[in-house]
Amino acid sequence: IFSIVFSGNHHARLIARSPMVDVEGLKREAGITACGFVRSGMKLGLGTGSTVRYTIIEIGRMISEEGVEVIGVPTSESTRELAESLGIPLMPISEADRIDLTIDGADEFDPSFSLIKGGGGALTREKEVAMISDSMVVVADDRKRVPVLGEFDLPIEVDPSRWSEISQAIRELSGTESTLRGGTTSPYVTDNGGFILDCKYGPTIAEPAILEEQLLSIEGVVQVGLFVGICDAVVMATGSGVETMVNPVGRLY
Ligand code: A5P
Repeated sequence: IFSIVFSGNHHARLIARSPMVDVEGLKREAGITACGFVRSGMKLGLGTGSTVRYTIIEIGRMISEEGVEVIGVPTSESTRELAESLGIPLMPISEADRIDLTIDGADEFDPSFSLIKGGGGALTREKEVAMISDSMVVVADDRKRVPVLGEFDLPIEVDPSRWSEISQAIRELSGTESTLRGGTTSPYVTDNGGFILDCKYGPTIAEPAILEEQLLSIEGVVQVGLFVGICDAVVMATGSGVETMVNPVGRLY
């Protein structure tokens, strides 16, 4: 926090500096701390992204070093590959009718524990897995906490043959511009074969449940990256430690 600076006359001065924030370290702390919710015998939804990656690595360690027994349900191909490489027993979502706990990242969360997800493109499977889970814990660093959702462009997965008309429908619905992820010449393709529209709402999504319903009613929309009433707790890493916030109307309270 302080650095010692020697001036011309050789008198040392203490200069206050803002501490460098080690974002990767924060992600790691949040990811590992969330494993406190994991119990042997659980079926676990394994999220996607750079924060929950640390959770998955820790679960791999708990299995190999502590003999914890869990079955993971991965939310993306990348998570499946990572979990497999760590020796975590897996089950595809098609075979998992119920999950005990899902741990996943988020792009934003608001004071009501509503989320924007899909920055990594896995929103459809992430929502599917979260919806059949008894509880969902989000791992994040404090940059993800916002008063109102929408500064992060809202990802929407769409039918590839209709992306342009859906983009137009979103413009008509809320005057919102969207961009095709990856661009028109080489669009990003999700694990489900869909395209992603990133929608520029700005920090205006005060009623995420209403917006989610409106967007889902547009023909060709596969899934919307708004998670409302699903997240039960956020394990948030800050420069001064990890804070676990439990949703007072959630299932873990
Ligand atoms: C993946 O589709 C996303 O929903 C991620 O969970 C989200 O983008 C958070 O990822 P990071 O932990 O990498 O920020």
